[in-house]
Amino acid sequence: MRILMVCLGNICRSPIAEGLMRNKIEQQGLDWQVDSAGTESYHVGEAPHRYSQKVCLEHGIDISAQRARRFTKKDFDSFDKIYAMAKDVYNEIAEIGGHGADMGKVMLFVNELHPGSNQSVPDPWYGNEDGYLPVYELIDQTCNAIIEKYK
Ligand code: 4NP
Repeated sequence: MRILMVCLGNICRSPIAEGLMRNKIEQQGLDWQVDSAGTESYHVGEAPHRYSQKVCLEHGIDISAQRARRFTKKDFDSFDKIYAMAKDVYNEIAEIGGHGADMGKVMLFVNELHPGSNQSVPDPWYGNEDGYLPVYELIDQTCNAIIEKYK
């Protein structure tokens, strides 16, 4: 299974999701692949936000080598599951995909943990460091739910 985690900037939320999911895939010995991308191009080529790196490292996961890239239409062909971290991200994925895009592959990430809740992962970009741990924990629980469901 090839999974893509998508947020706006690909520097705060989806890099945590990529790093956490890769760590779990390795621990469980699953034949899955994971990547992340952003619907906006502001931060392309950058490493994850320092607080995203920090909260992951505090849990033993080094995401410092990841680099931001933009989500493209081609990602619909390259991945089996595309997880939108938030509702606005979901809408932008649909916009980029355009007519004929297989939106059946796209799902709001937290709906795997709380089905039908249509909850977004809060965007910690506009807040302070305190915002990153709750985001990490929500992503961690949701990744666990995904592994249990599809492994
Ligand atoms: P992310 O957070 O989508 O979780 O990576 C953001 C990062 C940057 C911006 C917005 C959200 N920005 O506006 O630059």
